[in-house]
Amino acid sequence: MFEWNDSLRIGIAEVDAQHRAFIELVNGLAFRLSRESCNEWALYGETMAGLEEYVAMHFSAEERLMSQAHYPGQAAHQARHQFFRERMEALKTKGISEGRLPLDDIRDFLLSWVIDHVMTEDKTMGEYLLEHLKGKGQG
Ligand SMILES: [Fe+2]
Repeated sequence: MFEWNDSLRIGIAEVDAQHRAFIELVNGLAFRLSRESCNEWALYGETMAGLEEYVAMHFSAEERLMSQAHYPGQAAHQARHQFFRERMEALKTKGISEGRLPLDDIRDFLLSWVIDHVMTEDKTMGEYLLEHLKGKGQG
């Protein structure tokens, strides 16, 4: 589980608020899964609904900010977002073919996504965006 702190913050309020909600979703999933009384169907439904909203709102927000700032890493970054979408689809399909809810796999993927993407690739993007905003007198 992750605690929201400065290592996760990139300094752009819109993105930080979305990342914070994402961390809460990931933590909630990990915590509820660890409990014996977990209602897996309810957890799965809520997790997938939350992720769908996150992907729709957050990825497009980042992609808009990258376009505005002419971020040189935009294509690579968007490819990573696409990877996320495809991985989630693959996990859903795997769950269906195996006849079980893929909650463990989703949790593990999301935990690694926080480290591999939010804490690293988003951080790099954020530094560039902040510089760009400062240059425009908005920082
Ligand atoms: Fe991103």
